[in-house]
Amino acid sequence: MIKLKNVIFKYDKTEVLKDISFEVKEKEKIVLLGINGSGKSTLLKIINGLTFPQKGEYFYKNEKITPKKLKNKDFVRKFRKEVVLLFQNPDTMIFNPTVYDEIAFGLRQLGIEEIDEKVKYWAEKLGIEQYLDCPPFELSGGEKQKVCLASLLVLEPEVLLLDEPTSNLDPRTTGWLIDFLYELDLTTIITTHNLSLALELGDRGLVISEDHQLIYDGNLEEFIKDIDKLKEANLVHIHRHRHGNIQHKHYHLHDF
Ligand SMILES: Nc1ncnc2c1ncn2[C@@H]1O[C@H](COP(=O)(O)OP(=O)(O)O)[C@@H](O)[C@H]1O
Ligand SMILES: [Mg+2]
Repeated sequence: MIKLKNVIFKYDKTEVLKDISFEVKEKEKIVLLGINGSGKSTLLKIINGLTFPQKGEYFYKNEKITPKKLKNKDFVRKFRKEVVLLFQNPDTMIFNPTVYDEIAFGLRQLGIEEIDEKVKYWAEKLGIEQYLDCPPFELSGGEKQKVCLASLLVLEPEVLLLDEPTSNLDPRTTGWLIDFLYELDLTTIITTHNLSLALELGDRGLVISEDHQLIYDGNLEEFIKDIDKLKEANLVHIHRHRHGNIQHKHYHLHDF
């Protein structure tokens, strides 16, 4: 469904994705792991067609995604409906006067029918139906994120990309989101730098190192047992402890 071939991406002269290749099959749940600055958000933006690699290729359903392709009105309409991205900060997505309008926006843009039914269905599923007439800025961070998620899911997409979706959530809402995503029958790619959460979010891990290379593609549980790989990804650090007079050191996962 998604295929990246030798993708290289640079901001000016700095490479932030180095020769990245992988494929994602329909309905796979992928966790994209890497420390801050490794290139996760950039990779999601490429998959969402918001930016394009300088070298290498990205295919969605065997169609090469290029700036020119996304100028084709029929194609872009289909692509924007099928592949959606939840940004890390909901405030960058929200701009409508009410929650209802926010959720309805994409449907209106794409000329999709039965707006009212769809908006209400997803608002209810996400537990935000009581806010439909409210201005979104009055909501909490977690509620805003649910509004953003509703505004994407209402399009009935095929690929849901989520950029660190738990980073601003309290533990209870994080637990809710994990369960909610588990139930969704979609292809999902979720970025995180949190190792403990990663296992809850999918089975297959793609890991990007600090120097922007894909260093692991496979079973996440195996990855988390591999201390050398964890060190390579800078996802662990050595931590010193003192218990009374005894000092010892061991590896700590970066899950905070
Ligand atoms: N618009 C930009 N212009 C220049 N550099 C950027 C821009 N966006 C991100 N970067 C840099 O690219 C690298 C990768 O960023 P990003 O994809 O956001 O990583 P991550 O999501 O893994 O934290 C970082 O070093 C970041 O500072
Ligand atoms: Mg990021």
